[in-house]
Amino acid sequence: MPSIDSFYETDKAISEYLLFHYGTEELFKGPSEALDFAKRCAELALRHPIKLGRALDLGCAVGRSACELSAHFDETIGIDFSHGLIAAAERIRNGASIDTEIATEGKLTEKITLTLPPKARPDRLHFQQGDAMQLPTDIGTFDFALLANLIDRLPDPARCLQSIGKTINSRGVLAITSPYTWLAEYTPEDKWLGGYLRDGEPVLTYQSLQEILSPEFEELEALDMPFLIREHTRKNQYSIAHATLWRKR
Ligand SMILES: C[S@@+](CC[C@H](N)C(=O)[O-])C[C@H]1O[C@@H](n2cnc3c(N)ncnc32)[C@H](O)[C@@H]1O
Repeated sequence: MPSIDSFYETDKAISEYLLFHYGTEELFKGPSEALDFAKRCAELALRHPIKLGRALDLGCAVGRSACELSAHFDETIGIDFSHGLIAAAERIRNGASIDTEIATEGKLTEKITLTLPPKARPDRLHFQQGDAMQLPTDIGTFDFALLANLIDRLPDPARCLQSIGKTINSRGVLAITSPYTWLAEYTPEDKWLGGYLRDGEPVLTYQSLQEILSPEFEELEALDMPFLIREHTRKNQYSIAHATLWRKR
Protein backbone atom coordinates (compact mmCIF):
# COMPACT_ATOMS: atom_id res chain seq x y z
CA MET A 1 0.00 0.00 0.00
CA PRO A 2 1.42 3.49 -0.82
CA SER A 3 2.16 5.47 2.32
CA ILE A 4 0.29 8.62 3.21
CA ASP A 5 3.59 10.58 3.09
CA SER A 6 4.32 9.43 -0.46
CA PHE A 7 5.34 11.81 -3.25
CA TYR A 8 1.69 11.98 -4.37
CA GLU A 9 0.73 13.78 -1.13
CA THR A 10 3.28 16.59 -1.59
CA ASP A 11 2.55 20.16 -2.76
CA LYS A 12 5.06 19.49 -5.57
CA ALA A 13 2.99 16.58 -6.88
CA ILE A 14 -0.25 18.55 -6.64
CA SER A 15 1.24 21.49 -8.53
CA GLU A 16 2.87 19.20 -11.17
CA TYR A 17 -0.36 17.30 -11.79
CA LEU A 18 -2.49 20.46 -11.92
CA LEU A 19 -0.20 21.74 -14.66
CA PHE A 20 0.02 18.35 -16.43
CA HIS A 21 -3.78 17.92 -16.48
CA TYR A 22 -5.18 21.43 -16.87
CA GLY A 23 -2.25 23.49 -18.27
CA THR A 24 -3.00 25.14 -21.60
CA GLU A 25 -0.83 24.54 -24.65
CA GLU A 26 1.04 27.90 -24.47
CA LEU A 27 2.66 26.62 -21.26
CA PHE A 28 4.40 23.75 -23.05
CA LYS A 29 7.13 24.10 -25.65
CA GLY A 30 7.00 20.71 -27.29
CA PRO A 31 5.30 18.49 -29.85
CA SER A 32 1.56 19.19 -29.97
CA GLU A 33 0.68 15.46 -30.12
CA ALA A 34 2.10 15.11 -26.60
CA LEU A 35 -0.17 17.77 -25.03
CA ASP A 36 -3.44 17.25 -23.15
CA PHE A 37 -2.64 13.67 -22.16
CA ALA A 38 -5.39 13.44 -19.53
CA LYS A 39 -8.00 14.68 -22.01
CA ARG A 40 -6.81 12.16 -24.61
CA CYS A 41 -7.06 9.39 -22.00
CA ALA A 42 -10.76 10.22 -21.55
CA GLU A 43 -11.23 10.15 -25.33
CA LEU A 44 -10.12 6.50 -25.34
CA ALA A 45 -13.63 5.74 -24.05
CA LEU A 46 -15.14 6.86 -27.35
CA ARG A 47 -12.97 4.84 -29.77
CA HIS A 48 -15.26 1.78 -29.68
CA PRO A 49 -19.02 1.33 -29.24
CA ILE A 50 -19.85 1.78 -25.55
CA LYS A 51 -22.81 2.36 -23.25
CA LEU A 52 -22.44 5.85 -21.76
CA GLY A 53 -23.63 4.81 -18.30
CA ARG A 54 -20.99 4.81 -15.53
CA ALA A 55 -17.27 5.59 -15.88
CA LEU A 56 -14.42 5.04 -13.41
CA ASP A 57 -11.06 6.88 -13.43
CA LEU A 58 -8.80 4.91 -11.10
CA GLY A 59 -5.67 6.79 -10.00
CA CYS A 60 -7.33 9.98 -11.25
CA ALA A 61 -4.86 12.41 -9.58
CA VAL A 62 -6.34 15.94 -9.92
CA GLY A 63 -9.13 14.65 -12.10
CA ARG A 64 -8.90 16.03 -15.65
CA SER A 65 -9.78 12.72 -17.36
CA ALA A 66 -12.75 12.26 -15.02
CA CYS A 67 -13.93 15.82 -15.80
CA GLU A 68 -13.78 15.04 -19.52
CA LEU A 69 -15.58 11.70 -19.05
CA SER A 70 -18.39 13.48 -17.19
CA ALA A 71 -19.26 15.30 -20.44
CA HIS A 72 -20.28 11.95 -21.94
CA PHE A 73 -21.21 9.50 -19.17
CA ASP A 74 -24.27 9.66 -16.90
CA GLU A 75 -22.00 9.26 -13.86
CA THR A 76 -18.21 9.40 -13.45
CA ILE A 77 -16.24 8.49 -10.33
CA GLY A 78 -12.59 9.47 -9.88
CA ILE A 79 -10.64 7.61 -7.21
CA ASP A 80 -7.09 8.28 -6.04
CA PHE A 81 -5.05 7.14 -3.04
CA SER A 82 -3.74 10.67 -2.43
CA HIS A 83 -5.92 12.84 -0.19
CA GLY A 84 -4.16 15.97 -1.46
CA LEU A 85 -4.76 15.19 -5.16
CA ILE A 86 -8.42 14.32 -4.51
CA ALA A 87 -8.88 17.57 -2.54
CA ALA A 88 -7.52 19.54 -5.53
CA ALA A 89 -9.75 17.59 -7.94
CA GLU A 90 -12.77 18.32 -5.74
CA ARG A 91 -11.96 22.05 -5.55
CA ILE A 92 -11.84 22.20 -9.36
CA ARG A 93 -15.09 20.20 -9.61
CA ASN A 94 -16.72 22.76 -7.31
CA GLY A 95 -15.81 25.53 -9.73
CA ALA A 96 -12.92 27.00 -7.75
CA SER A 97 -10.09 28.46 -9.78
CA ILE A 98 -6.81 27.15 -8.42
CA ASP A 99 -3.60 29.18 -8.46
CA THR A 100 -0.34 27.33 -8.71
CA GLU A 101 3.31 28.35 -9.18
CA ILE A 102 5.22 26.80 -12.05
CA ALA A 103 8.99 26.91 -12.61
CA THR A 104 10.11 29.15 -15.47
CA GLU A 105 13.90 29.53 -15.23
CA GLY A 106 16.33 29.02 -12.33
CA LYS A 107 14.64 30.34 -9.18
CA LEU A 108 11.92 32.15 -11.12
CA THR A 109 8.32 30.99 -11.13
CA GLU A 110 5.08 32.11 -12.72
CA LYS A 111 1.61 31.98 -11.19
CA ILE A 112 -1.03 30.29 -13.32
CA THR A 113 -4.74 29.85 -12.65
CA LEU A 114 -6.50 26.63 -13.57
CA THR A 115 -10.23 26.00 -13.85
CA LEU A 116 -12.79 23.33 -14.65
CA PRO A 117 -12.76 22.34 -18.36
CA PRO A 118 -15.77 23.88 -20.13
CA LYS A 119 -17.49 20.61 -21.05
CA ALA A 120 -17.25 19.01 -17.59
CA ARG A 121 -20.53 18.20 -15.83
CA PRO A 122 -19.80 18.56 -12.09
CA ASP A 123 -23.29 17.28 -11.23
CA ARG A 124 -22.39 13.93 -12.83
CA LEU A 125 -18.91 13.74 -11.31
CA HIS A 126 -17.75 12.46 -7.94
CA PHE A 127 -14.22 12.25 -6.49
CA GLN A 128 -13.22 10.06 -3.57
CA GLN A 129 -10.05 8.93 -1.87
CA GLY A 130 -9.58 5.18 -2.20
CA ASP A 131 -7.21 2.33 -2.93
CA ALA A 132 -7.08 0.65 -6.35
CA MET A 133 -5.86 -2.48 -4.55
CA GLN A 134 -9.04 -2.63 -2.51
CA LEU A 135 -11.99 -0.85 -4.06
CA PRO A 136 -14.98 -0.12 -1.83
CA THR A 137 -17.44 -3.03 -1.96
CA ASP A 138 -20.35 -0.68 -2.70
CA ILE A 139 -18.68 1.00 -5.71
CA GLY A 140 -20.95 -0.77 -8.21
CA THR A 141 -20.06 -1.60 -11.80
CA PHE A 142 -18.94 0.51 -14.75
CA ASP A 143 -19.23 0.68 -18.54
CA PHE A 144 -15.77 2.24 -18.81
CA ALA A 145 -12.74 2.06 -16.52
CA LEU A 146 -9.55 4.05 -17.06
CA LEU A 147 -6.26 3.12 -15.39
CA ALA A 148 -3.98 5.89 -16.68
CA ASN A 149 -0.33 5.54 -15.71
CA LEU A 150 -1.36 3.67 -12.58
CA ILE A 151 -0.20 0.05 -12.91
CA ASP A 152 3.52 0.78 -12.47
CA ARG A 153 2.74 2.69 -9.27
CA LEU A 154 0.91 -0.20 -7.55
CA PRO A 155 2.37 -2.68 -5.04
CA ASP A 156 0.74 -5.63 -6.83
CA PRO A 157 -0.56 -4.65 -10.28
CA ALA A 158 -1.50 -8.22 -11.26
CA ARG A 159 -3.81 -8.47 -8.24
CA CYS A 160 -5.48 -5.17 -9.17
CA LEU A 161 -5.97 -6.31 -12.78
CA GLN A 162 -7.27 -9.74 -11.73
CA SER A 163 -9.99 -8.07 -9.65
CA ILE A 164 -10.86 -5.11 -11.92
CA GLY A 165 -13.11 -7.31 -14.09
CA LYS A 166 -15.60 -7.54 -11.20
CA THR A 167 -16.26 -3.81 -11.48
CA ILE A 168 -16.79 -3.73 -15.27
CA ASN A 169 -20.11 -4.57 -16.91
CA SER A 170 -20.28 -7.19 -19.64
CA ARG A 171 -19.36 -5.43 -22.95
CA GLY A 172 -17.79 -2.59 -20.93
CA VAL A 173 -14.34 -1.25 -21.87
CA LEU A 174 -11.15 -1.15 -19.80
CA ALA A 175 -8.41 1.31 -20.91
CA ILE A 176 -4.91 0.98 -19.47
CA THR A 177 -2.12 3.41 -20.26
CA SER A 178 1.41 3.13 -18.93
CA PRO A 179 4.99 3.93 -19.92
CA TYR A 180 5.87 0.70 -18.04
CA THR A 181 8.34 2.56 -15.80
CA TRP A 182 8.87 -0.15 -13.19
CA LEU A 183 10.48 1.11 -9.97
CA ALA A 184 11.13 -0.92 -6.83
CA GLU A 185 10.07 2.04 -4.65
CA TYR A 186 6.46 1.55 -5.85
CA THR A 187 6.32 -2.10 -6.99
CA PRO A 188 8.51 -4.83 -5.43
CA GLU A 189 10.54 -6.42 -8.24
CA ASP A 190 8.84 -9.80 -7.84
CA LYS A 191 5.53 -8.05 -8.71
CA TRP A 192 6.71 -6.25 -11.87
CA LEU A 193 4.67 -7.21 -14.93
CA GLY A 194 7.68 -6.83 -17.21
CA GLY A 195 11.14 -5.40 -17.67
CA TYR A 196 13.22 -8.39 -16.52
CA LEU A 197 14.53 -11.76 -17.71
CA ARG A 198 12.80 -15.04 -16.79
CA ASP A 199 14.81 -18.16 -17.65
CA GLY A 200 16.97 -15.96 -19.87
CA GLU A 201 13.98 -14.63 -21.86
CA PRO A 202 12.72 -11.01 -21.65
CA VAL A 203 9.34 -10.55 -19.96
CA LEU A 204 7.41 -7.60 -21.41
CA THR A 205 4.50 -5.85 -19.70
CA TYR A 206 2.27 -5.99 -22.77
CA GLN A 207 2.52 -9.81 -22.83
CA SER A 208 1.74 -9.99 -19.12
CA LEU A 209 -1.32 -7.77 -19.59
CA GLN A 210 -2.55 -10.12 -22.34
CA GLU A 211 -2.02 -13.16 -20.09
CA ILE A 212 -3.72 -11.61 -17.06
CA LEU A 213 -6.66 -10.06 -18.89
CA SER A 214 -7.43 -12.62 -21.62
CA PRO A 215 -9.64 -14.89 -19.46
CA GLU A 216 -12.15 -12.05 -18.97
CA PHE A 217 -11.39 -9.53 -21.72
CA GLU A 218 -11.00 -9.39 -25.49
CA GLU A 219 -8.23 -7.03 -26.65
CA LEU A 220 -9.58 -4.19 -28.82
CA GLU A 221 -6.42 -2.29 -29.75
CA ALA A 222 -3.04 -0.97 -28.64
CA LEU A 223 -1.67 2.49 -29.40
CA ASP A 224 1.10 4.88 -28.41
CA MET A 225 0.23 7.96 -26.35
CA PRO A 226 3.05 10.49 -25.95
CA PHE A 227 2.93 12.96 -23.08
CA LEU A 228 4.99 15.84 -21.71
CA ILE A 229 5.69 16.66 -18.09
CA ARG A 230 7.00 20.21 -17.84
CA GLU A 231 10.04 20.84 -15.63
CA HIS A 232 10.54 24.50 -16.60
CA THR A 233 9.88 26.73 -19.62
CA ARG A 234 12.53 25.09 -21.78
CA LYS A 235 12.64 21.58 -20.34
CA ASN A 236 9.98 18.89 -20.60
CA GLN A 237 10.13 15.19 -19.87
CA TYR A 238 8.81 13.36 -22.95
CA SER A 239 7.38 9.85 -22.46
CA ILE A 240 5.32 7.50 -24.58
CA ALA A 241 2.65 5.58 -22.72
CA HIS A 242 1.37 2.35 -24.22
CA ALA A 243 -2.44 2.35 -24.28
CA THR A 244 -4.34 -0.92 -24.48
CA LEU A 245 -8.13 -1.23 -24.71
CA TRP A 246 -10.05 -4.30 -23.59
CA ARG A 247 -13.69 -5.34 -23.90
CA LYS A 248 -15.19 -7.35 -21.02
CA ARG A 249 -16.79 -10.52 -22.40
C1 LIG B 1 1.63 8.51 -12.38
S1 LIG B 1 0.22 9.14 -11.57
C2 LIG B 1 -1.01 9.14 -12.87
C3 LIG B 1 -2.15 10.07 -12.59
C4 LIG B 1 -3.18 10.21 -13.70
N1 LIG B 1 -3.92 9.01 -13.92
C5 LIG B 1 -2.51 10.63 -14.98
O1 LIG B 1 -2.43 9.83 -15.92
O2 LIG B 1 -2.05 11.77 -15.03
C6 LIG B 1 -0.28 7.79 -10.55
C7 LIG B 1 -1.50 8.11 -9.72
O3 LIG B 1 -1.93 6.91 -9.07
C8 LIG B 1 -2.25 7.22 -7.73
N2 LIG B 1 -2.13 5.98 -6.96
C9 LIG B 1 -1.00 5.34 -6.59
N3 LIG B 1 -1.31 4.21 -5.90
C10 LIG B 1 -2.66 4.14 -5.86
C11 LIG B 1 -3.59 3.23 -5.29
N4 LIG B 1 -3.19 2.14 -4.62
N5 LIG B 1 -4.91 3.46 -5.44
C12 LIG B 1 -5.34 4.58 -6.10
N6 LIG B 1 -4.51 5.48 -6.64
C13 LIG B 1 -3.19 5.27 -6.53
C14 LIG B 1 -1.27 8.31 -7.34
O4 LIG B 1 -1.71 9.03 -6.21
C15 LIG B 1 -1.24 9.13 -8.63
O5 LIG B 1 -2.26 10.08 -8.66
